[in-house]
Amino acid sequence: MKHKSIAIDGPSGAGKSTMAKALAAKLGFLYVDTGAIYRTLGLFALRQGAAPSDWAEVEPLLPKVSIRMAYAADGLQHMYLGGEDVTEAIRHPEVSTAASQISAIPEVRAFLMDMQRDMAEAYNVIMDGRDIGTVVLPNADLKLFLTASTEARARRRYAELVARGEQVDYDTVLSDIIERDDRDTNRAAAPLRQAEDAVLVDTSGKTLEESLAALLHIVQERLA
Ligand code: DC
Repeated sequence: MKHKSIAIDGPSGAGKSTMAKALAAKLGFLYVDTGAIYRTLGLFALRQGAAPSDWAEVEPLLPKVSIRMAYAADGLQHMYLGGEDVTEAIRHPEVSTAASQISAIPEVRAFLMDMQRDMAEAYNVIMDGRDIGTVVLPNADLKLFLTASTEARARRRYAELVARGEQVDYDTVLSDIIERDDRDTNRAAAPLRQAEDAVLVDTSGKTLEESLAALLHIVQERLA
């Protein structure tokens, strides 16, 4: 039986993972966070002392790396690097930058592609990332493009990091987001862009509940 898939793309901090998690719970789909896969490889590069932006340094790491995704009883995705659960470690700001840098390398994207497509083959998924609707799942049953103003996204990301106990200041979070948007959007390989058949949702000025209600409405309309 063919499984159903919903693709959610958009810039960092637009609310993709929060919305995808909530939608997945409502629909009984599996939530697949593809950014976490790039983050795990980025963390590995940092730990190996390799520059995540340099293919010559990253290439020798690919045959050595073991990345695994597993789902806990609560349905949450955990990432394993070797045998180690790195679900928390990959959320540090320096890993965000490393993930964005390493993901600009075309060979890295190809290396991580099967892992993502296999999930959609095996389960009903809501998958979020930057190129899900355009490259990974071009035939997704529904494509959403979630965005928000840069400031709204930086405020959310700041609150998220503070809640996690990270020592950060707002201006740094804002400039990191601007830099990451620029890299993710302007890279040659699978840049962040809205698929032609994606539905655009702007979450600036919307509460979580309002954004979720808007998305649920679209899902019910399109996926009936
Ligand atoms: O969604 P995220 O912020 O956890 O993703 C981290 C980085 O990984 C992001 O800056 C770009 C990259 N990424 C990507 O290139 N393609 C994806 N499908 C998901 C993430």
